[in-house]
Amino acid sequence: MTINFYPVADKSEFSGTDQLHVNINDEEILLCREGDDFYAVSYYCSHATLALEGGYIYKSRIICPYHGAEFCLRSGEALTPPAFEEIKSYPLLVEGTSISVGLDKN
Ligand code: FES
Repeated sequence: MTINFYPVADKSEFSGTDQLHVNINDEEILLCREGDDFYAVSYYCSHATLALEGGYIYKSRIICPYHGAEFCLRSGEALTPPAFEEIKSYPLLVEGTSISVGLDKN
């Protein structure tokens, strides 16, 4: 499998926020920051397809702002109900201040 990395953000865009909504080839992605760590996961929750943006981030997890399901930001695994299906997680490349998200090459 080949992965293409797309530069989507600069670290400076995270000043004052810990989340950024990006779109690559019509794939909606939520970039998350926790301290010095960055993650990229699906923008939408697997429970009711509502946006995860605005969810509380802690211990490499995000809590869906709607019904409280928690997801692992590293793997996308659903950790608590009412979500049972994982969300997509994406590889990241951080070079200097540039953040790139990896997508499978079509
Ligand atoms: S939409 Fe996320 S837990 Fe329901």
